[in-house]
Formats: sequence, structure tokens, C-alpha cells
Amino acid sequence: MTPPEHRLNAIAPYFTMYPLSFPLNELSQARPGEWVLDPFCGRGTTNFAARLLGLPSAGIDSNPVAAAVARSKIVRADADGVIRRCKELLASVRAPREVPEGEFWELAYHRETLLDICRLRESLMSGIDEPEDIMLKALVLGILHGPRHKGGPGYLSNQMPRTYATKPGGAVAFWRKRGLRPERINLPKLVERRARYTLAAVPETAGGEILQKDSREKSSFPRVPGGYRRVVTSPPYWGMRSYIPDQWLRNWFLGADHEVCYSQKGQLRHGGLGNFIEDLARVWENCAAVAAPEARMHIRFGALPSVPQSPEEILRSSIEMSRRWRVAGIRASGIPKKQRRQSNQFVKKMGKAIEEIDMEAVLS
Ligand SMILES: C[S@@+](CC[C@H](N)C(=O)[O-])C[C@H]1O[C@@H](n2cnc3c(N)ncnc32)[C@H](O)[C@@H]1O
Repeated sequence: MTPPEHRLNAIAPYFTMYPLSFPLNELSQARPGEWVLDPFCGRGTTNFAARLLGLPSAGIDSNPVAAAVARSKIVRADADGVIRRCKELLASVRAPREVPEGEFWELAYHRETLLDICRLRESLMSGIDEPEDIMLKALVLGILHGPRHKGGPGYLSNQMPRTYATKPGGAVAFWRKRGLRPERINLPKLVERRARYTLAAVPETAGGEILQKDSREKSSFPRVPGGYRRVVTSPPYWGMRSYIPDQWLRNWFLGADHEVCYSQKGQLRHGGLGNFIEDLARVWENCAAVAAPEARMHIRFGALPSVPQSPEEILRSSIEMSRRWRVAGIRASGIPKKQRRQSNQFVKKMGKAIEEIDMEAVLS
């Protein structure tokens, strides 16, 4: 059972998120006040672990969905505030300016539910970023799509996976074949139920910042007094290029176009292993530039078994190329329960097991 103070971490799912236990273990020896950095923060698991331990943290991710979810991990808002804000924002937009049309949208959401989603989308896009808005945004991203539950609605959509959104063609074919029509879901009620559960015991904040930026750029890294003592991170697994297209529906909610975006802008290059290693090396160099002397870096990494190089070889090459870190230890990620593996979502989608490793490096 998830302890109530850990529930915020699961506010929205994210493809290839790692379990909270990984950063919690790696940060357990950190001293109060030490800054933590994650240059590929995803949904902000590292930032949440840092918060639980009272450590300030920074997170960087170029995917807008990741950054929006990660932001909720460092702010504090209670359920009443989020529920109130949701009602306020819904009432503030009578007729949304933009309501996507077509078979996908008709089958994905009941018309009334879609109108409410569009109302919230429009008002949350206006750029007001109070903690309640940040939390509400992440909460709605978490319920935007997912499976139907027998015991009452858990998600706003017709039947869909929750970690990634099906592409329109495939989704429509799936719904049509099974005769699945979207149910009318009461958005404010579902938000209320989720907020009461997720925000039942929100831990104290420990400070920090999440940036939607490209970590290959030096300028993306905020400097902190004394530098970061700990880096805990997990780069995209080699060959994993679908972070943006797989999150197309959540990206739409955040303001993107209502069609699948296949652009790889801001993502590590997966065209050619050499390019990928070079990109990773740049990120390690950038981390080194803002790290404290003798900082430690903990990396979880994996690659598909069809890839001839092992994840260890790939990661070692990138660390050596950066010339700033020394490998201090490497081990199989060794997570005993199969269902807790970060790669499990790949296994479901691609039917293949992935080798995962954990590496520790020290600033040299
Ligand atoms: C394995 S996921 C991290 C998951 C994270 N540990 C969690 O628990 O949610 C890797 C992340 O790297 C991000 N990413 C890929 N290329 C990037 C880049 N150049 N700059 C910043 N983030 C990048 C992806 O968007 C993805 O969210």
C-alpha cells in the first residue's frame, strides 16, 4: 500500500518512470541542505524523493508533459484549494474557443466531458502558475486517459492505456470493433475524488525548480550555491524515441496541436549510437559544470536486447567521453519484483525484456 505522503508521486503516470525507491536509496546518505539534480527528470521522481528527504532539487526535461507533472512534485497545494480552483476555472470559460472535432474525439470523450476538458485546457494555458494550477494541471494529465473501471470512472476517456495515448487510427479501430462509446464523466467530481486521495498528506516542500529545457545545452542548468552534491537520473533508454508522440494527448491538453507530433525536437538523438553517446556525454559535462567537488552521480540505464551493445558499454563510453566523471561502481538494477521494473512498460508494449543497470560515478 502506498503511504499517503507518497501518493503525490503517482499523480500522473509517465512512460519509463523509475520506482521511488531508486532515488530514495541513492539519496539516503545525503546531508540536509544538499542540492540534488536530475537532468532527465521525467515525472519528477528524483525531485519527489529529494523533497521527502528535505533536500532541495532541480529537474530538467524537454518534454512538456514531463515538466508539467514534475512541477507538481515540488509545490504544495491542498485538495480543497485544487477543487476550488477547478470549479473556478470551469466557470470562467463558458464556450471554449477550440474544441477538436472528428471521429477520434467523438469516440474518445463524451461531448460534455470534452467541453469541460477544453474549458480547463484554455484557462490553464493562460500562464497563471499558482501551486493550485500546477497541481490541477498534473492531476488532469493523470486522469486524461486510462482504462475503464467497473467500480466507477477513474479516467475521463473511453478505454485507453494510461501510460501512453493510442494514436487516433488505432484507437478508433479498437473502439469501433468493440462498440465502445464514451461515457459522460463528471470532471469536477472526478477531480475532487482524485485530489482528496492524492493530496491527503502532501509532504513539506524542500525548494527547487523544474525547467522545461534541453539538457544538452549548458544554459539549461540552474546554478545553486555550492553546486549540486547529487545527481540521480535515468536517460532515455537507447532506442526509445517515442516520449513525445506517445504523450500526444497530454501534450494537446497542455496547449499543443490536436494531432500526433512526431518531432524529436529537444530529445537525445537516437539516429546512430555515436550521436546518442555524444549527446549523453554533453549532458554529463553540463552536470559536472554545476556540480560540487566530489559530487556523486547515480544513473539507471537500459537498452533493448536487440541492440548489439550492452547498456553498460553505451553508458561507460558516454561517461569517458565527458572526461569529467569517474565510474565508481556498476551493477544490475536488481529490482526483485518484475512488476516494479522501469522497463516493464516497454515489455508490455514491445514484448521484449530489457537489461537495466545502475551506475555510480564520481566527479573527477
Ligand atoms: C527515462 S525518462 C526519465 C524518467 C524519470 N526518471 C521518472 O521517474 O519519471 C527520460 C526522460 O528524458 C527526457 N529527455 C530526452 N532527451 C532530453 C534532453 N535532450 N533534454 C532534457 N530531457 C530529455 C525525456 O523527455 C524523458 O522524460
